[in-house]
Amino acid sequence: MQIDKINRERIKNLKEEKHFMRLGGGEARLKAQNVKGKMTVWQRIEYLVDPDTFVEAGSFIELRNENFGLEKSRTPGDGVVTGFGRVNGQLTYIAAQDFTVLGGSLGEMHGKKIAAIMDLAIQNGAPMITLNDSVGARIQEGIGALAGYGEVFFRNTKASGVIPQISVIMGPCAGGAVYSPGLTDFIVMVKDTSNMFITGPEIIKSVTGEVVTKDELGGPDVHMARSGVVTHVGEDDESTLDWVKKLLSYLPANNLEFPPVGNQAGTELNNEIPQENLVPSNTTKPYDVFQVVNSIVDPMSFLELQSEYAKNILIGFARLYGKTIGIVANNPSELAGCLDVNASDKAARFVRFCDAFNIPLLTFVDVPGFLPGTDQEYAGIIRHGAKLLYAYSEATVTKLTVILRKAYGGAYICMCSKHLGADMVVAWPGSEIAVMGPKGAVSIVFKNEISESKNPEKKAVECESLYMDTVSNPKIAASQGYIDDVIEPGETRHIVGSYLLSMTGKRVEAPKRKHGNIPL
Ligand code: HXC
Repeated sequence: MQIDKINRERIKNLKEEKHFMRLGGGEARLKAQNVKGKMTVWQRIEYLVDPDTFVEAGSFIELRNENFGLEKSRTPGDGVVTGFGRVNGQLTYIAAQDFTVLGGSLGEMHGKKIAAIMDLAIQNGAPMITLNDSVGARIQEGIGALAGYGEVFFRNTKASGVIPQISVIMGPCAGGAVYSPGLTDFIVMVKDTSNMFITGPEIIKSVTGEVVTKDELGGPDVHMARSGVVTHVGEDDESTLDWVKKLLSYLPANNLEFPPVGNQAGTELNNEIPQENLVPSNTTKPYDVFQVVNSIVDPMSFLELQSEYAKNILIGFARLYGKTIGIVANNPSELAGCLDVNASDKAARFVRFCDAFNIPLLTFVDVPGFLPGTDQEYAGIIRHGAKLLYAYSEATVTKLTVILRKAYGGAYICMCSKHLGADMVVAWPGSEIAVMGPKGAVSIVFKNEISESKNPEKKAVECESLYMDTVSNPKIAASQGYIDDVIEPGETRHIVGSYLLSMTGKRVEAPKRKHGNIPL
């Protein structure tokens, strides 16, 4: 009887204590989060996971440091909620920082909690999502805070290529703290309420004299359009988390699994959209390759990534006959679709992600070459372009390539040609595969004939037509086995989809090595 009473008392206390912990930094601070347009940490978790699936780990952890009176107030959860739940039915591990507890600052125990949940995610092969909302290292804790970060960075690296890692920046993310997101596969920011920078405006001003606002320095627009750090920017907390859920729906749980298969219906879909109308035959005319991609993949399935960065190349996930694929496409609407430093980096990193997680690659080619000029040479286009060559060559997933129009020079090789191990390369009839375009080529090869002709312009046109018939016509590459076929645009979905379905069992044994040395 007495024991029952003690137990009842303990359960009552436990409930009260858990309730207290759940309030984080208290009602006033929670309210302040909402006033700023931000959800509280628990609102975020509950919005992200499937109903009633979240299980918290380490809820009783608080800081164990007494510097500068830290011990005088409680620090529920030490400023981070960790645990696991289901997202779209898939097991997912989560660490969500609570800004209401010491600004979500990262101290020793906070770091240990994140590290512990990451260990579980790696061991159990499930995606890891962090919801970042933190002022950075907890200054009072000194080495304890630095150790906490180090432990997390180490695990981010160990997890890379094993489980998908997604960082959602939903508040400040300053100082060395940015390197955990920086090591993950996808970084998503929230408009108006998030920023990321290594060194804040105050320190910049005192060191270099430069005056800059937080937003100009590391707001979502900057990271989306200029630095290329960010994958996507959401309007608010809800729509950002919705996007994360959508992203997860394309990904396998880990590197040993295959991506989830969507609605298989679609195999019967025919190409109602006349793709030939989307790609102008005049090779100098720009067009948006987005439309072409959309007309070939399963309807509404294309999820573009980094849409505002290096717009001359388009990347993203889509489904073809229900199967997740990674899309890489030159986009002639920007810089004529040339490959430059940023486009090479953007595509190479994406190709490596897809390869690590068993996601077949579908590449659309319309590329006049590498962008010429001192800017590019000084920025290291040799090193950066090499990344893309390396990434495609290294990838052992199914690699399918469609040449839409121009495929010139080194950039042709780079864009997942047969020479880099593509399993299928097909070209549309109007495409040109050659060292360079007809104009440049005839000005070198037929220089004398043209200058000695009575009508040089007419002669040049004749020579160009001869060049296209004898050199750059895709039938020539097909007759030599360098591409598999020349196909009608309207057949593309059916042919690419059929190749994809026929290659689901592809396995390639690479020679053993510790790891290659990609030109970073
Ligand atoms: C401990 C901190 C803190 C810190 C702020 N707080 N920074 N506690 N360590 N580093 C506390 C505040 O006292 C406050 O407590 C609460 O967190 C919220 O902070 P506010 O300043 O009130 O919030 P806000 O006005 O929204 O401003 C947010 C901010 C600002 C812009 C991020 O806090 C700021 O500039 N902080 C400094 C950021 C920074 O430089 N971090 C260190 C980076 S260096 P109360 O009790 O009032 O709620 C770093 C090195 C890591 O991280 C290296 C790892 C490799």
